[in-house]
Amino acid sequence: MGCSTGNATPPTPAIAPGSEEIDAEAVARELGERGPDPRLTDIVPAFDAPFFQAGLAGYSDAAMRIVARRHGCPLCVTEALLDRTLLAGGRGFAKADLGELFDNVPGGEDDHPLVGQIMGSDPAEMAAAALKMIEQGARPDRVYRQMAEQSPGTEHAAPDDAAHADTFAAIDLNLACPVKKIARKARGGHWLAEPDGAIAIVRAVRDALPSRVPVTIKVRRSFDDTPEMAANFDRIMDACFEAGVAWATVHARTVQQKYIGPSRWDLLREIVRKNPDRVILGSGDIWSVSDIFRMISYTGVAGVSVARGCIGNPWIFRQARQMMAGEAPTAPTIDEQREVLLSHFELALGVNAQMRRPELHTAKAMRKFGIRFAAHHPEGETVRRAMIAVESLDDWRKVLDEHYNAREKITAS
Ligand SMILES: Cc1cc2nc3c(=O)[nH]c(=O)nc-3n(C[C@H](O)[C@H](O)[C@H](O)COP(=O)(O)O)c2cc1C
Repeated sequence: MGCSTGNATPPTPAIAPGSEEIDAEAVARELGERGPDPRLTDIVPAFDAPFFQAGLAGYSDAAMRIVARRHGCPLCVTEALLDRTLLAGGRGFAKADLGELFDNVPGGEDDHPLVGQIMGSDPAEMAAAALKMIEQGARPDRVYRQMAEQSPGTEHAAPDDAAHADTFAAIDLNLACPVKKIARKARGGHWLAEPDGAIAIVRAVRDALPSRVPVTIKVRRSFDDTPEMAANFDRIMDACFEAGVAWATVHARTVQQKYIGPSRWDLLREIVRKNPDRVILGSGDIWSVSDIFRMISYTGVAGVSVARGCIGNPWIFRQARQMMAGEAPTAPTIDEQREVLLSHFELALGVNAQMRRPELHTAKAMRKFGIRFAAHHPEGETVRRAMIAVESLDDWRKVLDEHYNAREKITAS
């Protein structure tokens, strides 16, 4: 299950008239000189730069997150995990963490801070799933399932602080995923057409979690372009922040758009202007490091979610840090690419250790990344074809030996 609808399109520039004039290098340098934004570090202390890795179903597992962090990404979000799967103790739970690699602590010590994202159709179930995530299942499974059946707002024994000291830095509620309703029940972005339900979920989760755990939302700019849906969006935003939501990440496409066509930075800018005292993060059409700083400057968001632009491109985070330090962003050398490709495979193998055929599963998963990584290579098409044929770590190493041996610098795409 995931938020991908299988129709992601190639890069399109966002609709942002006038943004061509923005000097991304100057914006980055100024942000670097200003230092971390206290609005972000107050919520998650290590969120010390205005960008993060988005939830990306089918991609943003612990392996991808750790690779991003090694390149300077200050915060990562899990892919959307279904509340029901979490409550059933199924694969959704394992996917949020590193499995055996770091002793089943979410993300392990190399994967903090990590925001856990959940999605679902029922307020009590969402609240129980959020608590289970934060507590890492410290109570028996049947207790969480009972909570899921109670009416929202029922008092529960206070969680043991030690049980969630090292788990998720925040819980993010997905009100954005465009995948169709199941059994006529809303979830993800479909809640934007049913504001009462969206608001009930947010309140139930906020009430169920200890107050020091931030609750955040991921939302689309609207369900569609009708005035009725725009009003729903405003109502949901007001109610969520009144309920205590710490930030909203706004994807500047409608739910109806799925991932097709440009995002509307012009409308995102209006949303930021309408919500001056609220922390708004932005998403949509971040394809290069300059886009991060262009979005901040154009829209006024406090931070930027890097999504498709970081698949096979963890260097975007290093480049952002470089630009904030007033340096020119550097493209990855062949040696750097080799090192990342190898460590990403090895980390993914650790994440998948409990699968039936971990090496084959990892090889297949890495093909998707390979296609994107290959774009940095001067013989991209040849490398891509070699990568999509791999079935084991040995095969992967052979591709690296054959194609990633040069010592000279190359230009990133
Ligand atoms: C394959 C795929 C999977 C995604 N999965 C999630 C997800 O699980 N949770 C989430 O909040 N957003 C998800 N998104 C949305 C992205 O986080 C992001 O908001 C969107 O891609 C827009 O940014 P971009 O145009 O820069 O890629 C997904 C997007 C894609 C393409």
